[in-house]
Amino acid sequence: AEYEATVTSPVNIAVIKYWGKRNTDLILPTNSSLSCTLSQDDLHTKTTVRCSPKYKQDRLWLNGFEEPVVPTHGRGYRCLQELRQLRKVIEDENPTEPKLSEYKVHIVSENNFPTAAGLASSASGYAALVQALANMYNLTCDQTELSKIARLGSGSATRSVFGGFVEWKAGEDPLGSDSCAVCVAPETHWPSLRALVLVVSDAKKGTPSTSGMSATVSTSTLFEQRIKYVVPERLKDIKEAILNKDFKTFAEITMRDSNQFHAVCLDTYPPITYMNNISIGIIRLIHMFNSQVDPETNAPLGVRAAYTFDAGPNAVIYTEESNIKELVSIITHFFPPSQATSLKSYLPSAPSLF
Ligand code: DP6
Repeated sequence: AEYEATVTSPVNIAVIKYWGKRNTDLILPTNSSLSCTLSQDDLHTKTTVRCSPKYKQDRLWLNGFEEPVVPTHGRGYRCLQELRQLRKVIEDENPTEPKLSEYKVHIVSENNFPTAAGLASSASGYAALVQALANMYNLTCDQTELSKIARLGSGSATRSVFGGFVEWKAGEDPLGSDSCAVCVAPETHWPSLRALVLVVSDAKKGTPSTSGMSATVSTSTLFEQRIKYVVPERLKDIKEAILNKDFKTFAEITMRDSNQFHAVCLDTYPPITYMNNISIGIIRLIHMFNSQVDPETNAPLGVRAAYTFDAGPNAVIYTEESNIKELVSIITHFFPPSQATSLKSYLPSAPSLF
C-alpha cells in the first residue's frame, strides 16, 4: 500500500523583517516579524510526498535533482521526524491505523520560479513539505502547530502556513512552544493591495540568510538597538495600519524597516550588502513617485508605493491596484528588461491546504 499527498504553498514577503536568531538550533528569532502571503499563480512550491513499506530510505528530489536527506542535522529531516512523531501518537491510540510512521518517505518538490532568482524559496518549500506530510499522515493538529514545525525548516516558512497578513511571534519560551505564526488579517481584508515583484538580473550569489544573520547578531551594535527600541513599536503600528487599510503608514513602516534591515547588514563586520545599483535606483524612483503632485491642482498625490528588499537585489513593491499601470510603465521606462528581468503583480492570498 502507498499513501500520498500533494500541496502547493505560497511565498510570503516580510514588511517587518526577521533577521537574527536567539536559538540557532530551534530557529527561534530575536524579534517578531510580519509578512503578506502572496497569490500562488507563478510563485509557489509544489510538493508531493509518498510513503510505502517498499521504500528502503527517505529520499528527496528538489527541482528534478536528488538531494541527500541528512539525518539529525538536516532541516527537512527535522520536520519529517516531528510529523512522524505526531503520526505515531495517532497509531498508538488507534491500533487499526496503518503504521505510516514506520514507512520511509519519498519527497518530490518543485518551485515554479527559478531558485537562482533569489526569491525566498525556503519559505514556500518548508511550508509545502510540512503541509503535505501532515495531510498524508491525516494529522489533526492546527495551522499554528504546523507553523512551529515549518519553523524548524526555515524561519520565514513559519509565516507561509497562513494566508493574508501573518505575524510570526518571537515568543519567550527557550524551547519555542510560543514561537509560532498567527493571522493578523485574512487575505480578503485588503483586496486592493498588490505586491509587484521585480526580479533584478544579478548573476552573483550573496551571503545566505542563515550565516548572514548569525554574523549580524554577533557583530552589529545597531542590531541591538533595532531589536530593543525599533521593532516592537513598528509591529504595533503596522498591525494597526493594516487593520485600518492605512496605506501611507503601512508603506512608510515597510520602507523604513527594509532600509534598517539593510543598514544592520552594512553594520555587520565584515559588512554584508544585498542590494545592487539597480536596487538603489528603485528606492530613488519610488521616493520620486511618492512625491509627485497632481499636474492640474499641484496637490501632492501622496505615498502610493513601498519597496522592500530581502537577502538579495530583487525588489518587491507594495501598492494599491489603482497605481499598478502607472508604476509598471515608470519602472519599465527607467529599468529596461536588460536590468530588470521580470515584473509581475500578486495579491494577498491564502495557502491551499489540500
Ligand atoms: C531577509 O527564513 O531564509 O527574508 O531561518 O535561517 O532559514 P533561516 O532564514 P530565512 O530568512 C529570511 C530573512 C529575510 C526576512 C524575512 O523573510 O523576514
